[in-house]
Amino acid sequence: MNNNFNNLPIGVFDSGVGGISLLAEMIWTMPSEQFIYLSDSANAPYGPKSCNCIRDISVSAARLLMEKGIKALVVACNTATSAAITFIREEFELPVIGMEPAIKPAVEKNGQGKIIVLATPLTLKETKFYNLFQRFNCCAEIIPIPCPGLAELIELEARPEKIREYLSNIIGDAIRIQFDEISTVVLGCTHYCFIREEISQVIGPQAVVIDGTEGTARHVLRILDDGGLLAAEGNKGPSVKFLTTGDPKQVIPLCERFLAKALKKDRLKLLPLK
Ligand code: DGL
Repeated sequence: MNNNFNNLPIGVFDSGVGGISLLAEMIWTMPSEQFIYLSDSANAPYGPKSCNCIRDISVSAARLLMEKGIKALVVACNTATSAAITFIREEFELPVIGMEPAIKPAVEKNGQGKIIVLATPLTLKETKFYNLFQRFNCCAEIIPIPCPGLAELIELEARPEKIREYLSNIIGDAIRIQFDEISTVVLGCTHYCFIREEISQVIGPQAVVIDGTEGTARHVLRILDDGGLLAAEGNKGPSVKFLTTGDPKQVIPLCERFLAKALKKDRLKLLPLK
């Protein structure tokens, strides 16, 4: 691959700010890269929509990023991955990387305890999750809990008390066991990475909270490396440009706030992507 192509940005999208948790992890993992992040806020939330509808809006989001000139696409959304990843891969020749709930590492680390998986209703309804569940359910007790409305609360930057109240109600209604019997919580939606603290406060300190962002960022690095697609060291990265299908005046500052949170504030200086 020629250097000009390698120095193109990596496109990333989600329904909103959730995928910024993965974006931050990729910035740490690949600091020479440039990123374009699309917050598909005009179509958010994805979670309660039908599979066909998510397929169509995800393919449109992917097209929008492709038109900007990218070298790879990361679907930073478990819901869009479940409904649309095969369709996106059929349409585009570039590497397309998706996300799935991190059940495998949860089972490997968990031992005998009970694992709950928090995700959108669509993610938990789809075949992709069913297959994952079937593969690991023999080794551990896995309890999927759909969380309608939770991504929306996070987008609205709801207060921690409101998030904790939501979580105790939804988890309390879904399971018959005490919260202290839960050994692991799998975050099956990229938005939920931003409420790890509230989740730990509600479930208790014994529970390990696992998300797929680190593993996915490493996977993206491997795919780019194997394809000879990594940016040259000393490229203009790390840099990020935010795009949105929603109102940029409202959404772009929101994205910047969430990126600052995910990067742990000032630990890294980002350059503007021109
Ligand atoms: N962040 C998304 C996910 O990982 C979806 C949130 C939503 O729009 O419902 O599933």
